Amino acid sequence: MSVAHGIKLLGVLGAGQMGTGIAFVSALRAKVPVLIHDRSQEQITKGLALMDKLLAKDVSKGKLQAAEAQEARDRVRIVDSLDAMRDVDMIIEAVTENMDLKRTLFKSFAETLRPDAILATNTSSISITKIAAAVIPSGKTAASKEGKEAAGRVVGLHFFNPVPVMKLVELISAIQTTPDTLDRARAFAEACGKEVTTSQDVPGFVSNALLMPFINEAIMCLEKGTATRDDIDKTFRLGMNHPMGPLQLADFIGLDTCLSIQQTLYTGTSDSKYRPSVLLERMVDAQWLGRKSGKGFYEYDD
Ligand code: 3HC
Repeated sequence: MSVAHGIKLLGVLGAGQMGTGIAFVSALRAKVPVLIHDRSQEQITKGLALMDKLLAKDVSKGKLQAAEAQEARDRVRIVDSLDAMRDVDMIIEAVTENMDLKRTLFKSFAETLRPDAILATNTSSISITKIAAAVIPSGKTAASKEGKEAAGRVVGLHFFNPVPVMKLVELISAIQTTPDTLDRARAFAEACGKEVTTSQDVPGFVSNALLMPFINEAIMCLEKGTATRDDIDKTFRLGMNHPMGPLQLADFIGLDTCLSIQQTLYTGTSDSKYRPSVLLERMVDAQWLGRKSGKGFYEYDD
């Protein structure tokens, strides 16, 4: 029997491509009102424009009635602070991959939000267990009732880009996460129209522990001159039926994101197979971040 997710109001922190996509599927598919916050007004404007474009496209293709699209759009509200999210039943954090930032944010979630709200992170590789340890109230221990209850509400909900299209959500349990939190988070992802897989809380979880060495090997092939950029990508598009080659995919994900995930994998395992390629590091140094910056392995003018 499926568990009710019980989410009547959702908060999304971060209006980048992931946060916007999560807000979009939550409002459209799960039909849940969403409050979204980002400290960058530019990011918010871009995110809302993307939502409007996606809804208009679905209406023009006959996938959605105009009224349904409007209802979904009306469910999304921008708020200017975390305080304005104090009544949410679940928050999904989708900010940049930085452990200190995430731990600081989760501490303020625990202090600001309702004590029964689920605290979810869309991190692609950072330890959910470490994030959960940040929410223990001051003066309480991890073993105290308050400490266990607080950390038990933290869970990993890893969406894939582009969120409206990709069918998967990876569910990650910290060692502190309660079964109730896991069941409700899974039910919510399913209500968003996603299939759910579960992973242990290991660096990169299942998805990025497998994807990132693949992308890194492709970059090393390019670095060594084993093949050209186009032939590396064509090999996977035409030889293995991947929708994008690994270099295209790296640009799509963001080279800074790929590097930060690879660094988490490398430091978290000390396994040399995860060591980021020098070329990737140099490209990030140069601010060649892929599609979002207009240049990565390819150039983009949109
Ligand atoms: N946002 C929303 N929808 C999008 C989109 C976006 N950014 N880009 C494309 N779409 C939609 C299109 O509107 C179209 O929808 P429709 O069928 O209703 O018209 C559909 O996707 C197909 O788009 P296109 O025909 O324009 O292009 P493609 O067929 O080439 O598909 C793609 C584009 C879906 C991005 C495809 O190339 C793909 O699947 N690429 C691989 C993506 C992937 O592997 N993502 C996972 C990255 S790893 C990750 O996110 C984890 C993180 O931790 C790193």
